[in-house]
Amino acid sequence: MIRASRKSLTLMALAAGLCLAGGAVAAVNAKAVIEAREANFKTFGKSMKTMNDNLKSDSPDLAVIASNAATIRGLAPKVTTWFPKGTGPESGVKTEARAEIWTDGAGFAAAARRLEPEAAKLEALARAGDLAGVRAQVRVVGGTCKGCHDKFKAD
Ligand code: HEC
Repeated sequence: MIRASRKSLTLMALAAGLCLAGGAVAAVNAKAVIEAREANFKTFGKSMKTMNDNLKSDSPDLAVIASNAATIRGLAPKVTTWFPKGTGPESGVKTEARAEIWTDGAGFAAAARRLEPEAAKLEALARAGDLAGVRAQVRVVGGTCKGCHDKFKAD
């Protein structure tokens, strides 16, 4: 009897240890995923800022605007892959991602899909040298960012 209970205690301790280890691994992964996606969003933010600063200057550099639009266009199709299950607020890791990303996956995917074509259009306008078109389209791209943030990002 004593032997058996010792054995089961050992097994329970082992199982608890494995659970803890599993939880720790998941937490580390969530942290890495969240940090990586925040770095990607910072790239979006930096590109938008560079373009807006250029448009405010006396001589906007359309080549710089085109390359920043291309950066956004290139990353845009990947946005949904930055949000695997378990990397929301329930992860315990600091994140501005709202739970709605996972409860309304279709809505989130739709918001994400709007970004690439608008960024591509901006890049094309910049490459074509259409400054007025670029000014208008930068606002459309910014509106696409905001459209998602309003619904899926905490302030
Ligand atoms: C489909 C939804 C979606 C789109 C489109 C989107 N974002 Fe975000 N963005 C988010 C979410 C969600 C977060 C919060 C991520 C987190 O904290 O884990 C975020 C975070 C950010 C952050 C904060 C990053 C940090 O330092 O933590 C910046 C800056 C940002 N986005 C800029 C942009 C810009 C600029 C665009 C458009 C070019 C854009 N985003 C498009 C959903 C989106």
